[in-house]
Amino acid sequence: VTRCSLAGFWKNDLGSNMTIDIFENGTFIGKYLTAVSTTNKTILQSPLVGYQQPTDVPLFGFTVRWSFINSITVFTGQCFLDESGQQVLYTTWLLRSEAQNLQDNWSQTRYGCMVT
Ligand code: BTN
Repeated sequence: VTRCSLAGFWKNDLGSNMTIDIFENGTFIGKYLTAVSTTNKTILQSPLVGYQQPTDVPLFGFTVRWSFINSITVFTGQCFLDESGQQVLYTTWLLRSEAQNLQDNWSQTRYGCMVT
């Protein structure tokens, strides 16, 4: 049986890439280099931590702490094997940006989907 795993190098439909190391209990750490950003600050590689279920096509969740801006993204999704047996991740994310004040809080969470 071919299993999916998040371990290794990934590139998504935006051109962002990440590298993941998995531990025995499904916890993982990695590095994320986004191709896009909400700011024009220089983009830097950022750390991630997460968890995957120990199944054949694992569900997962991870958090990226952006190292170049005060924002956080949480990602959750599933690893699939496509028709050609290639691993593919279908992911939903929430990006939380900093609000300058409580009045602006409502507007500082973005949502999206991506394929990796
Ligand atoms: C920021 O601009 O506040 C930090 C970078 C956010 C990049 C987002 S996270 C979801 C989406 N998927 C990516 O690969 N990059 C964007």
